[in-house]
Amino acid sequence: MGNLELDVLPDMYPKHVGVIMDGNGRWATKRGLPRTAGHYEGVKAAKRVTTEASRLGIPYITYYVFSTENWSRPKKEVAYLMDLLASRLYSEIDFYKRVGARVLIRGDISALTDAARDAVIATQEATAHLDHLTVSLAINHGGHDEIVRSVNRWLEKRSDNSPITTTDIRSNIDLAFIPPVDLIIRSGGEKRLSNFMLWDAAYAEFAFYDTLWPDWGAKELQSACDDFAHRARRFGGVPT
Ligand code: IPE
Ligand code: IPE
Ligand code: MG
Repeated sequence: MGNLELDVLPDMYPKHVGVIMDGNGRWATKRGLPRTAGHYEGVKAAKRVTTEASRLGIPYITYYVFSTENWSRPKKEVAYLMDLLASRLYSEIDFYKRVGARVLIRGDISALTDAARDAVIATQEATAHLDHLTVSLAINHGGHDEIVRSVNRWLEKRSDNSPITTTDIRSNIDLAFIPPVDLIIRSGGEKRLSNFMLWDAAYAEFAFYDTLWPDWGAKELQSACDDFAHRARRFGGVPT
């Protein structure tokens, strides 16, 4: 099995991994660098993890890039993150082609800077034909916001007075055609969701790691997936 040495069958691996990429700022501060240096390194970590997801054959991975609450950070940091989206995404198109990843956006991108919005839309378009792996970028994403926008979409289409159902909400959330997340990973030591994919997290498995996001790579993703493969998911039923 080469350098994989998997002790579980890959078909027990999650089909959809969600990643809360936390710890960029602390990674940089520890080194006496500005927090923005951590965000820069964080992009490299996301590439390493995406490369491994592609190699492992994980079909869907969603990265939490920017939350609806992250606008409250210092103006300079928000501007840097917007610039990073605008400049790095464009230059990563060759990378996405190499790993066979189509990029999709999850979140309300209307609030982004024009340059960031143009870049994410252009990246979606340039990778639309790739089908080995789907990389969703949760940008200006918040679980609450996503549910509210879903309900509003449903209200717009509604033709009678029947009450809303859970199926209606699920089928109107962002990227509703993507299956619910199986495994949510958080780097950086905190044990919380911070408003990430709240609807789809209902039966997700959780895995929290102390390793700061810029230190993540293939090994960390693989070990999270191995751990997931040993979990017993019951979805409210009884053990089989
Ligand atoms: C996560 O790292 C990246 C974003 C939220 C954009 P942080 O910037 O939250 O890093 P810490 O948690 O302050 O170390
Ligand atoms: C969550 O990290 C958001 C992203 C990783 C994009 P935060 O650093 O914003 O979360 P809190 O503030 O520690 O909950
Ligand atoms: Mg953080």
